[in-house]
Amino acid sequence: MAKPQKRYVCQACGSVASRWQGQCADCSEWNTLVEEASAVVTPFAAKHNLHGGGRSIVLTSLDAEVTLPERMATGIAEFDRALGGGFVEGSATLIGGDPGIGKSTLLLQAAARMALAGHSVAYVSGEEAADQVRLRARRLGLGNAPVQLAAASSTRDILTTLSTGAPPALLVIDSIQTMHSDLIEGAPGTVSQVRASAQELIRFAKERGTALVLVGHVTKDGTIAGPRVLEHMVDTVLAFEGERSHQYRILRAIKNRFGGTDEIGVFSMQSEGLAEVANPSALFLTHREEGVTGATVFPALEGTRPVLVEIQALVVRLASGATPRRAVVGWDSGRLAMILAVLEARCGLSFSTAEVYLNIAGGYRVQDPAADLAVAAALVSALSERPVPSESVAFGEVALSGELRPVAHGPLRLKEAGKLGFERALVPIAVAKDGKGEGAMQLTGFRTLGQFVDHMLGRG
Ligand code: TYD
Ligand code: MG
Repeated sequence: MAKPQKRYVCQACGSVASRWQGQCADCSEWNTLVEEASAVVTPFAAKHNLHGGGRSIVLTSLDAEVTLPERMATGIAEFDRALGGGFVEGSATLIGGDPGIGKSTLLLQAAARMALAGHSVAYVSGEEAADQVRLRARRLGLGNAPVQLAAASSTRDILTTLSTGAPPALLVIDSIQTMHSDLIEGAPGTVSQVRASAQELIRFAKERGTALVLVGHVTKDGTIAGPRVLEHMVDTVLAFEGERSHQYRILRAIKNRFGGTDEIGVFSMQSEGLAEVANPSALFLTHREEGVTGATVFPALEGTRPVLVEIQALVVRLASGATPRRAVVGWDSGRLAMILAVLEARCGLSFSTAEVYLNIAGGYRVQDPAADLAVAAALVSALSERPVPSESVAFGEVALSGELRPVAHGPLRLKEAGKLGFERALVPIAVAKDGKGEGAMQLTGFRTLGQFVDHMLGRG
């Protein structure tokens, strides 16, 4: 009988080492290695790779009949959109997000809606007492929804309870970091505990056809706390994002075995819970004033959904030779540096003695490279103190050469801008050529950023 071997698992990245080390060799975090017992493998079986006694599995062809999994709509259209139509029976979904962003609120609302629609729903909170959840449900006007509620954190207790009688159609676990499995040692929240608890719950979900939802907190660096492993274990990973100081929230699919990952759901946090935002552009483009410098409207694309956002820039000339600040909220600071460099090197504008601030209004986070031209427009407008032509939007990618590149889904962006009353679009020349004759938008195309700057400054 071989002695169980000791192994050490990094609590940050989940990598395994055979000896304890102060620093993880994979992710370089300090003091994250924790001892964990590993399975017993006899040297003989390991050496000869013997796995006798297995059952034979059925091999089938790729073109065999497909049975699509049953979906249960939550009844919250924005949630269903992010899920690709609803929760799938026997699947596991992980919803990650910063503490306080509204995960519990969203899931309580979805659980209540589904319970009211006749599904059996169990909501297990390991973070809050049952009364707290009840009070919240009452505040949300959902106090009478037939949700089965429990405050518990032992996976064995939860699964023993749910195994008697019919399994629930939906099981919400809030949060996986508070769950504890007695199959393995360690405190709740450690990688091994999170993994073991999730494994037990997922096995139950698959066996009993329950749609399982795990809430997961996110760490500072944006990964779901502790283990990346959790993301591999579940079928769907959703991220609930937003700035706590702003009211809007975005539910984004990061992984989805049963649907696309490019759809988002948009919500706004109100005193009576999360409200759906069917028209996000209206949310991000609140009162716009005419003639303001340093602001451009950018038609961003979230999956197949256009969202108009306002990009704001402020340029402050410095008298002294101090190193000027560059601060960005809602966009990539590396990309801002690149746009500034292209404006300096290719367009003859100087930002080197000025502080530059860039902000995406409403706390929105832009990831779309098509924002380059809109950012450049806001910067040039702020520097020159000339407003961007009113009723116009701008989009396009800027190359280091200064050339403007067309971007995906130009027509969709133009259509959304037209719908919201914009009349002009400043775009790369290729987009202007393609889009001629589409709708009432007047398109002005530019080949290079230099041409665009000349146009903005009235130089040509
Ligand atoms: P919560 O769902 O508890 O966040 P999480 O589970 O992600 O930690 O939401 C907490 C925040 O939401 C809290 O700061 C209060 C706010 N909130 C509202 O603004 N309106 C509401 O109706 C509710 C329930 C919460
Ligand atoms: Mg919570």
